[in-house]
Amino acid sequence: MSEKEHRVSRRQFLNYTLTGVGGFMAAGMLMPMARFALDPVLEKEAGAGMVAVGQVKDITTEPKRVDFKVKQVDGWYKSDEPKSAWVYKNESGDIIALSPVCKHLGCTVNWNGDKAHHNQYYCPCHGGRYEKNGKNIPGTPPLAPLDIYESQVKDGTLYLGKTKPNGGAK
Ligand code: FES
Repeated sequence: MSEKEHRVSRRQFLNYTLTGVGGFMAAGMLMPMARFALDPVLEKEAGAGMVAVGQVKDITTEPKRVDFKVKQVDGWYKSDEPKSAWVYKNESGDIIALSPVCKHLGCTVNWNGDKAHHNQYYCPCHGGRYEKNGKNIPGTPPLAPLDIYESQVKDGTLYLGKTKPNGGAK
């Protein structure tokens, strides 16, 4: 081979250079996009843990409202979401924590919120009512029981997790 055949033409040089620079720029743009798309998947699941909401010794058979905050992660956005629960001990001594979110249109229910109906949860928006265990009272707008929180007791402290349908209140 002659030395002439090894020489790179101006056209080849420009092709190699532009391909290299273009590839570098494309990688620079695509890497953050890929990271943005995958980061929530790669990150440890947040918000799945239980949150301490109070002491078991303070819980009676009368529903009491407890307010707490849950760490929320939505993609890159992290926040503390305020939550509430109506918490009491049932006849068996089990701790029940009910969501205060009305199953009709999502207003907040209150224990003994209506003077005409004692020992019930009352929704002021459309007069929805629920029994102590969260069961919706027929003839009022809600068509399902109040959701129930996953709960756990450890060292005298009550922890609450996610809500789920209240299958026990039938
Ligand atoms: Fe509760 Fe309608 S939102 S009764």
